[in-house]
Amino acid sequence: MTSPIKHFLSLADIPASELRAILDEAHVRKKARTGYPKGKVDADAPLSGYTVAMLFEKSSTRTRFSFDMGMRQLGGSSITASSNDMQLGRGETIEDTAQVLSRFVDGIMLRANSHDTITALAHSASVPVINGLTDYNHPCQIMADLQTLEEQGRDLRGLSLTWVGDGNNVAMSFVNGAAKFGYRLVLSCPQNYQVRGQDVERARSAGAKIEIIGDPKNACASTDVVIADTWVSMGDSDKKQRLADLADWQVNDELMSTAASDALFLHCLPAHRGEEVSASVIDGPRSAVFDEAENRLHAQKAILKYCLDT
Ligand code: CP
Ligand code: NVA
Repeated sequence: MTSPIKHFLSLADIPASELRAILDEAHVRKKARTGYPKGKVDADAPLSGYTVAMLFEKSSTRTRFSFDMGMRQLGGSSITASSNDMQLGRGETIEDTAQVLSRFVDGIMLRANSHDTITALAHSASVPVINGLTDYNHPCQIMADLQTLEEQGRDLRGLSLTWVGDGNNVAMSFVNGAAKFGYRLVLSCPQNYQVRGQDVERARSAGAKIEIIGDPKNACASTDVVIADTWVSMGDSDKKQRLADLADWQVNDELMSTAASDALFLHCLPAHRGEEVSASVIDGPRSAVFDEAENRLHAQKAILKYCLDT
């Protein structure tokens, strides 16, 4: 039996039609606020009276501020806590935490070290749980990225996206979104940094068009969108080795010149200029990274409404 609670843990779990409706809502809601001060509540205040708990096991700038402002703009409120400030940090179980918070708040957003933590939280919670990033994936980020591409007039169906670098949690969400939104995904990652084969195969059997092309120039040839992320994610310890292994996968002007002439550059941020991307690309005319960051707010408002306003 499927759970009546609408969690947002992975794009793979959510029907394509519902994800499409979330993106449509994000576009409409963003346009409707044109000219509003940032703190003004949306005219319909759909989450008036609702409160979300936001729990962080690791650092965040965009996720933290966009969820908090998002709840305010929807007419609701949020309570933020680092897991170290909670009894969770002293060994209280995630299952007990889930049951207790479910008595206080209407939804829980968690940024977790391990994806197992968020699945355990969702299993024991009686309110919706939203994934604010785990070691496995980052689904809210991809919704903002896709909103950004559509704003730039790109039709996602058949669009060619190339991921360059570490096959990490953000890459995994692009894999999970491919069958849902119909874009073609090329993954260009060094050996030992590839997205897990079993996840790629699962996505392909759900209809995703995913190619693995190790050489970054071949992978970016004529592509519509080039995407990079840090080479050292939160929780990775082998920084020196990673920088050496990933050095040939930097997105720079030379690599961008192989892409389509109107190709866009995306990066979820935080970025490391001179490592995964050159300053000339991320600060150049093809970069949409700050629209992408802003759209975390708009996409997440649509996700919050989807999960909470049932
Ligand atoms: N892109 C992203 O999730 O940023 P933060 O780590 O700052 O939340
Ligand atoms: N892959 C990065 C994304 C940060 C938003 C990390 O997990 O640290």
